[in-house]
Amino acid sequence: MSTPTLFADLHAAHDWLAGHGLLPPERRSETLPTPHVRLLSGRTVVSFCSNNYLGLNHRAEVKAAAAQALHEHTHATSESRRLGGNLGLLEELESELAEFKKQPSALITATGLLANIAAVHGVLDAGELARRWYGSPAPDARPVVVYDELCHRSIQMGARQSSAERLRFRHNDAEHLADRLAAYKGRAILVVTEGVFSMDGDLADLPRLVEVCDAHGAVLMVDDAHGTGVYGADGSGTASHFGLVGRVPLQVATLSKAFGGMGGAVLGDERTIAMLRTFSSGYRFTSSLPAEQAAATIAALRILRSEPGIRDTLWANVRRLRSGLARLGLHPPGDGPIVPIHMGTPQAAAMFEELMLDTGYWCVAVTPPAVSPETCRIRLTVSAMHDQEQIDGLLERINDISPKIPAFAEIANKQTELGT
Ligand SMILES: Cc1ncc(COP(=O)(O)O)c(C=O)c1O
Repeated sequence: MSTPTLFADLHAAHDWLAGHGLLPPERRSETLPTPHVRLLSGRTVVSFCSNNYLGLNHRAEVKAAAAQALHEHTHATSESRRLGGNLGLLEELESELAEFKKQPSALITATGLLANIAAVHGVLDAGELARRWYGSPAPDARPVVVYDELCHRSIQMGARQSSAERLRFRHNDAEHLADRLAAYKGRAILVVTEGVFSMDGDLADLPRLVEVCDAHGAVLMVDDAHGTGVYGADGSGTASHFGLVGRVPLQVATLSKAFGGMGGAVLGDERTIAMLRTFSSGYRFTSSLPAEQAAATIAALRILRSEPGIRDTLWANVRRLRSGLARLGLHPPGDGPIVPIHMGTPQAAAMFEELMLDTGYWCVAVTPPAVSPETCRIRLTVSAMHDQEQIDGLLERINDISPKIPAFAEIANKQTELGT
């Protein structure tokens, strides 16, 4: 039997990519970063690629909470919340998260990706779905969703799944957003941004975005996956960092980054959250978060709130890494733990990763479709788990290998010129 056309096309694309060195291997390890990682080869390297900003999943209290919940409830709920997977622990986590994020209400999803899908498609479509299924009142005009062009894929998925009219605005450009919104006066509008951009590490211009949304009667949603637990005097995220608590009506947090767990949360007013519970597919049509994850996140959240010193360590490490890079002529965007170094091509980024790994440091190359081909980069992430020696060692190795990367000098110069 001949190969079906779909597979023939797919396999041809595969062979072309492999031939051009564009299918880098997913590296396997025997352990997770502490930040040390033991690779399958048995060699131990220091990881600078984890989003586990505070290392909370390595804390004894967190592991004990997870173990106890696992023992009591097993490792899976096997049901969505509505069909019986609604453990009390999940509601406990929701109320602690809502209090931490200073939002009236929260719902938890099994991953952060699902939280964004549930939030975006849910707020855009729940009214119309309620009309379709129950005949409740809903406006005739299609809603509109406008998102930052660098928003995470899950936000785009939520927008695509919805019935809304979709638009993008230029990255972090509130004036461009205002121009976009001017054409939609009187319509139901959702504006979405990330609090901290996951691949670029820069902060959203929340003060201006809040102003623009308020002026146009739009709802602002912030995906605070990388801000929650990291930014703000209390660690509650970018709204707190900018003094905008109470001004960002819809937020998403992942449990997989600063909390060191798995899962996501949507935070908003009570009626909105209740509508999402009923009509949102990222919540309603998938199994609920396993008990041990909920118990672990509750324990992690309590540590995060009671031990602000962990975040002080994180920020001291961020400053050490960023000032060291500046001495090497590199000025990555942002001011936080996500530190991108632009390499220009996928091949240069892959070469950097390979050379660094040879010297004992794991720094991951980010390539399409996560970023566009000409903005391939090394994405360093620093955490509270690193010590000064590891950061200084990383900087030395970057300095050592940079002459071997053809594009490197040019990149360093360009970043200095742009002051980025
Ligand atoms: C900005 C942003 N939102 C959402 C997600 C999805 O989170 P999770 O990995 O918990 O599904 C990620 C993670 O990649 C992210 O970076």
